[in-house]
Amino acid sequence: MEVVLAKAAGFCFGVKRAVDKVYEQVETDKKIYTYGPVVHNEEVVKSLEEKGVQVLQNREALEALEEGSVIIRAHGVPPEIYQIIEKKGLECIDMTCPFVKRIHNIVQKESEDGKQIVIIGDPKHPEVEGIRGWSVTPATVIETPEEARNFKASEDSKICIVSQTTFNYKKFQDLVEIFQKKGYDIIVANTICNATEERQKEALELATKADVMIVIGGTHSSNTRKLYELCKSECENTYYIQTLADLQLELPNSVELVGITAGASTPNKIIEEVQNYVRINF
Ligand code: F3S
Repeated sequence: MEVVLAKAAGFCFGVKRAVDKVYEQVETDKKIYTYGPVVHNEEVVKSLEEKGVQVLQNREALEALEEGSVIIRAHGVPPEIYQIIEKKGLECIDMTCPFVKRIHNIVQKESEDGKQIVIIGDPKHPEVEGIRGWSVTPATVIETPEEARNFKASEDSKICIVSQTTFNYKKFQDLVEIFQKKGYDIIVANTICNATEERQKEALELATKADVMIVIGGTHSSNTRKLYELCKSECENTYYIQTLADLQLELPNSVELVGITAGASTPNKIIEEVQNYVRINF
């Protein structure tokens, strides 16, 4: 029996970079805070807490700080957060993913040039809240075709459309098309990050070949759920687990290939544990 791990399983480049930085900083004797959990994974957050890293849940918690270093996670933040950190004399360790930073720069520049900003994404997602903050004029967030159809701007407006990095490409195209049909003067920056797409593509390819698929990730992680659904559509025997402890695997002798993939917030350690377990026990 063969066990194959999808290459793009687990942390993407931006999240890995931020998480590595937090682990590097705990080695110093500074008081370390992250603005929001550095990754949506309870295990990682708990292990960091044990090392003294505290999560600031909101702006009020940041404003109450008197000293220490604040790490900005890969999702990025609006400019006000940098201003608070600076005003309070705290150290800012900015781990905004460069791909997200690029969106901030586009939004800032285009809004300064007089364009109206439209962000395709989930209005409640912290990344979108961050992007929104970089527009110097009020930005509109659009998530559904209905919202796109209802969008109104004056005829002479110039519009700049960007996307949340993890938005589905097909849905993005459909929404952009609605805007194009309205006849506005628009520029479109496709700012979707291909880390998500790559992970999904590889998972799907693996699932078509595998007899059993194991998808690892948090129950609240929407990208893990999406991976699970994709795999399940190709491989009936797909398991969704958070950690090795959840795995109740029964493998009949006929199983030849077990595929493993993991959501964007699943640490390598957990992936390795699952992989080793399957290799050794079956
Ligand atoms: Fe960055 Fe893409 Fe990850 S934007 S945080 S590398 S999903």
